[in-house]
Amino acid sequence: MICDKIFFIMSTTSNNIVKVCKVNELPDGQGKSVQANGKEIGVFNVKGKYYAIDNHCIHAGAPLTDGSIDAEKCQVVCSWHSWTFDLATGKCVSHPKQDVFTGTYNVEVQGDEIFVSV
Ligand code: FES
Repeated sequence: MICDKIFFIMSTTSNNIVKVCKVNELPDGQGKSVQANGKEIGVFNVKGKYYAIDNHCIHAGAPLTDGSIDAEKCQVVCSWHSWTFDLATGKCVSHPKQDVFTGTYNVEVQGDEIFVSV
């Protein structure tokens, strides 16, 4: 999948649009933990495209924003046991089963602010 063509992410539950941070608070190649509607979400900047996924790793709960970003693959590698997630789809690409996903959320940039649909 060529992730840099994806700007908006399909949401598993789309309701409230929440401002989570400013663009200048999330440099390229980094993730940021934010709170939105009682959820901890990891927002990531990969080459100027923004992605949002549940920040608690589905394996054992590590914060995915502590992981390392593979910008070429548009993935984050969990810092605890290296489970790897596609930032666009939430799919755990390192898991032997094909249908293991973490939650994803729509991301929208308006001006200099980043919004997530939660
Ligand atoms: S907690 Fe993320 S891989 Fe184990």
